[in-house]
Amino acid sequence: MGQLDGKVAIVTGASRGIGKAIAVLFAQEGASVVLAARTEAESPDLPGTIHATASQISLAGGKALAVKTDVRFDEEVQSLVDRTVAAFGGVDILVNNAAAQFPTPLKDISMRRWDVVLNVNLRGTVLCTKLALPYLIARKGAIINITSRSAVMTGKRHDGGLAYGVSKVALNKLTLGLAEELRPEGVSVNAVQPKTAVATEGVLRAYGGLPTYKTVGPENMARAVLYLALQTPATRTGWIGFDEDLRAETGAW
Ligand SMILES: NC(=O)c1ccc[n+]([C@@H]2O[C@H](COP(=O)([O-])OP(=O)(O)OC[C@H]3O[C@@H](n4cnc5c(N)ncnc54)[C@H](OP(=O)(O)O)[C@@H]3O)[C@@H](O)[C@H]2O)c1
Repeated sequence: MGQLDGKVAIVTGASRGIGKAIAVLFAQEGASVVLAARTEAESPDLPGTIHATASQISLAGGKALAVKTDVRFDEEVQSLVDRTVAAFGGVDILVNNAAAQFPTPLKDISMRRWDVVLNVNLRGTVLCTKLALPYLIARKGAIINITSRSAVMTGKRHDGGLAYGVSKVALNKLTLGLAEELRPEGVSVNAVQPKTAVATEGVLRAYGGLPTYKTVGPENMARAVLYLALQTPATRTGWIGFDEDLRAETGAW
């Protein structure tokens, strides 16, 4: 018996990194997983595609559907939700993980890049949530937003740039506000962030290598997201915190 048997989950940004780890774990736990991101063809510059994640899941006996999606565009997200419902009958879990970052000071960042970060990280999260919401409410589901300590970090350590931090502050507020809006509907809304930097393809590309401080794999984040996917408003909603703190508090993994 898997902890997510019979559940349907959409994971954005599942072509690589933390999103891929979440999707693989969800499938191992019995969920039908829909993989939403843009990359369909392998590139030496940035490894990982939605189809590679889907193959890994299928080869291990899991259920996956890859849907090419740019979360910035309404019609693509509508198609993501429509195809999810057509394939699997509904939506129980939405993981808003897709993100963009440019570690560029405000004085140097173009407004085009500023808009990309805010449109992917914030508008994309709102859009995916709004369009999946009727289905999440119907099944009293769970929403998990992936946030970052960049929302509060100061100083010169890698923090993804100001646009990224601003987007994550907004995600935190979205999590708190939406948790209250959806409490009567039986939908939980929580947000989790890595306590220690996760060595992913995105981090490697954004910084041209790993940060000098400690990094970990994405497994802890995937476990924390699984735990949050099992929550209801009666057990936990409106929570924002670190994966490692959740592990220590709950002993769930
Ligand atoms: N790694 C860390 O240390 C760290 C720390 C704090 C928070 N986080 C958060 O954890 C999450 C995952 O981070 P990561 O390090 O795994 O990132 P990553 O390796 O850069 O992966 C980002 C994912 O987002 C997808 N994505 C980007 N733009 C998209 C768009 N417009 N539409 C759809 N998908 C899009 C990418 O897929 P495509 O390119 O195929 O579209 C990719 O699958 C993010 O929310 C990030 O802010 C990570």
